[in-house]
Amino acid sequence: MSAMKQGPGDDLQEAARAPAADSGDGDGAGPRRVPRAAFISAGVAAAAAVAGGTAYLVERSRGTGLTVNVNGRDHPVAAAPDTPLLYVLRNELGLRGPRFGCGLAECGACTVHLDGVAVRSCVTRVDSVGNRQVTTIEGLGTPSNPHPLQKAFIDQQAAQCGYCINGMLMTAAAFLKSKPRPTDAEIKSALAGNLCRCGSHYRILRAVKAVISA
Ligand code: FES
Ligand code: FES
Repeated sequence: MSAMKQGPGDDLQEAARAPAADSGDGDGAGPRRVPRAAFISAGVAAAAAVAGGTAYLVERSRGTGLTVNVNGRDHPVAAAPDTPLLYVLRNELGLRGPRFGCGLAECGACTVHLDGVAVRSCVTRVDSVGNRQVTTIEGLGTPSNPHPLQKAFIDQQAAQCGYCINGMLMTAAAFLKSKPRPTDAEIKSALAGNLCRCGSHYRILRAVKAVISA
């Protein structure tokens, strides 16, 4: 059984191994010559492969044509259209605030805002963002001018390991915008989908309530 061809390089090697009889060089005892037609066709195949590779690289450097607006600035997207927004934020924009927890919309660690609405960026395709504004924790507040929730979380020492906290903050911020005076039960319900393995729930609740009563 003959081996499967891997690419144009194999065509060239096959051409080099071709019997000399076709080349018109006599009985094949002398140096083998590659048949002209085989050589040309292998060369064309190799050129096509190189051209294809070049086109791919040019396409990559141009990106996909998608743009996302994150924290007030437009960014071209290089990743494929079906890439999760979370990967684009972390890998292309270098924003480490949105975190990868489960990748399945189960934990809330990756929560960001789309036009002020909390979404799970691990299951949000980047091409579904459209013209909506993406806000990550980096756009919520700054160290010198923190969002009231960020200040309250610090004051209440709401974080232990901190892995869940960015998602908690983004979920709580969107929630309080839509419901500025919630009850305890409503706060718990709003944050129920954000998992905290350290069990900081009571401190988190205290922090959110501190913002409400401020
Ligand atoms: S990483 Fe997105 S919900 Fe867990
Ligand atoms: S503080 Fe560690 S997971 Fe919430």
